[in-house]
Amino acid sequence: MSLCVVVAGMLLWGGAERAQSGSAPMTAEQDHDNMMKQLGIEALRPGPSGDENAPNHANYDESKANPYPKMPDPLTLDDGQKVTTAAEWWHERRPQLVKEFSEYVYGKVPEHVPAVHWTVTAVDHERIGFRAVVAKDLIGEVDNGSDPAITVRIHMTLVTPVDAKGPVPVLMMFGPAGFPSPHEPSAEEFARINAAWKKMMTAQDATLGQVFTDHPAWEPFHATPFRFPQLNADGGMPNTWQLIADGWGFALIDPASVQADNGAGLTQGIIGLVNHGQPRKPDDWGALRAWAWGAGRGLDYLETDPAVDAKHVGIEGVSRYGKAALVTMAFDQRFAMVLVGSSGKGGATLLRRNFGEAVESLTGGEYYWMAGNFMKYGASKAKFGSMNPGDIPVDSNELIALCAPRLTLISYGSPAKGDAKWLDHEGSFMATMDANRVFTLLGAKGLTMDGKPYTGPMPPINEGILGGQLAWRQHDGGHTDAPNMKYFIAWADKWIGHAAQQ
Ligand code: GCU
Repeated sequence: MSLCVVVAGMLLWGGAERAQSGSAPMTAEQDHDNMMKQLGIEALRPGPSGDENAPNHANYDESKANPYPKMPDPLTLDDGQKVTTAAEWWHERRPQLVKEFSEYVYGKVPEHVPAVHWTVTAVDHERIGFRAVVAKDLIGEVDNGSDPAITVRIHMTLVTPVDAKGPVPVLMMFGPAGFPSPHEPSAEEFARINAAWKKMMTAQDATLGQVFTDHPAWEPFHATPFRFPQLNADGGMPNTWQLIADGWGFALIDPASVQADNGAGLTQGIIGLVNHGQPRKPDDWGALRAWAWGAGRGLDYLETDPAVDAKHVGIEGVSRYGKAALVTMAFDQRFAMVLVGSSGKGGATLLRRNFGEAVESLTGGEYYWMAGNFMKYGASKAKFGSMNPGDIPVDSNELIALCAPRLTLISYGSPAKGDAKWLDHEGSFMATMDANRVFTLLGAKGLTMDGKPYTGPMPPINEGILGGQLAWRQHDGGHTDAPNMKYFIAWADKWIGHAAQQ
């Protein structure tokens, strides 16, 4: 049973109890339940099954995919007035959309988020492919003076080529951080380590001396044998190798070090720290916005590092991190480019579409990615009645539009190779096409193929629309963006005027 306490007009379910007794944090179910109560929701429609053979499987019938065919218009103000100039976009429409996405979809970044203090914890001189690189491991310690029980340490690793002639463009990628290719001791150093180790062991247990004498060739520590890198799905070199070979740097930023990828973690991480360990309020940020915030703090560091061309930092992610990459780019205009990999609902595809993953998936088990308020659109019984995806005031065409006129590549793979239909490639393409109008209004070159503006339909797999600042490509691999990396690099190089360094 959850306990409800009213503190200064704010409902606190369970959290106050926990703060007093120090008992276990809420489970995701309890937290989800708490948010339903805060919103006055009694029942949510269940999300569809991803299993096509299940009776409640998601819709994959294109004729039923558009129950709310009218997308909200990025170029119409809420009062119905049309946006016809760049100035109207920048001063009126964009701020309106930022506010609405914050309030209803991804949640607001609190006004006072504690400062982050970056420290380079170690510097390693490594090789990526054939190029020497400097790898810096970094921790961004969030000031937790307001709540010392909650620690947030953002983990990022920055890797840049040693022989660069100047600051390099950097692609920040959501995923585990850490040294990609640790530099190992030399043969002579290994010999010393082995001798010292044997000496130490013999001091512990004198009989081991005989064992070492009997096996004189045995050395416990030795160099890791060369292993060919794990190739990308298209047989290409790993993304990191391609970036370094082209003269880029990359930064690996660990989303989990900012905010856990689960509902139970909402009273921890950066969201929990700002809320003093209490559950979220309906318009508080969800994990996607928190990860995006973390990427922004990573960029704060990159702006101070002389190896980095901070005007040309991109953000990349796949799947849930593809959503996070798009959210990062949409809100933080310092990011110059984005590679959005297989992002689906909550990412590039239209929330209004009924194809594969549904809004009801994002209000059910995946609720913590979003603002609490987003749950309303999955409600079948609530104090406000019921709502459906057609009630969401904004949609992904407008999220992509928020990236304009900066370099935006929407990427997918092939359903036949495992980039599931669940992701709704078509709906993502529809949103991209519509966002194109904002890119062109702002004077950017929109979707362009063979030198001509692209007008549809969704092109076949492997036919990229890569001629403009808004771009699209579906590769023939699976649930990854790796086969699109070489296209991304060539496309971005052209627009930022970076020459590949072989
Ligand atoms: C699930 C989820 C998607 C998400 C994906 C992932 O499929 O429904 O929204 O993108 O997991 O991140 O792996």
